[in-house]
Amino acid sequence: MTPLVAGNWKMNGTRASLAEVDALEIDADVEVLICPPATLIADMIDRAPDGLDVGAQDCHAAASGAHTGDIAAAMVADLGGTFVIVGHSERRTDHGETDATVKAKAEAVIAAGLTAIVCVGETEAERDAGDALKIVGAQIAGSLPAGATAANTVIAYEPVWAIGTGRTPTLDDIAEVHDFMRNELAGHLGADAAGIRLLYGGSVKPGNAKEIFGIGNVNGGLVGGASLKAADFNAIIAAA
Ligand code: PGA
Repeated sequence: MTPLVAGNWKMNGTRASLAEVDALEIDADVEVLICPPATLIADMIDRAPDGLDVGAQDCHAAASGAHTGDIAAAMVADLGGTFVIVGHSERRTDHGETDATVKAKAEAVIAAGLTAIVCVGETEAERDAGDALKIVGAQIAGSLPAGATAANTVIAYEPVWAIGTGRTPTLDDIAEVHDFMRNELAGHLGADAAGIRLLYGGSVKPGNAKEIFGIGNVNGGLVGGASLKAADFNAIIAAA
């Protein structure tokens, strides 16, 4: 399957930052996505080099209505966006999003004809307690959208303690979680699970991307800080 390298700019960037997009080196063998702040989606799409997908970092579960400050998946689609990240740990923590919220958002993304990137991952305390697989399994069970297929759903494993910290799990630990996720998905979706891309996220950098992407059942990455500068992001794309 084609690997996906997705950049998550989080709450970073103004229009001046779009110059980074001009310097991207898109590789035909890798699907490359950037999810900028919602304010930049339209301009980034206008400026995107051939082959760059653009998406959103979140959306509301409803199609429209009285939800001040939120955006709907169909609005992202209207701009030409193709992906929406849902259930990022920063949303789960900062905005109290539950698995049920995340599942509803992912279903809204699919209903709008876009692909949902559903994020899961344990906290440090959960890993230390030996509960990482249990937590990830429960998040998948609770957040997986109805009707998930390889075309409309991607799962990103992002251990909370590895996000923005420069720390990553061992390669064996990443492999263990990704193998587990593949099996869990098979339990929920049967044969369709084999084609669903499983991204690793959390302190992916030019220096560690190749070894992480070399793990079986790691089908790309979700990259925060290192997606903000084209030079770093290009090196990560090249590693995939
Ligand atoms: P990071 O963020 O690459 O800066 O650790 C990853 C993410 O939160 O998606």
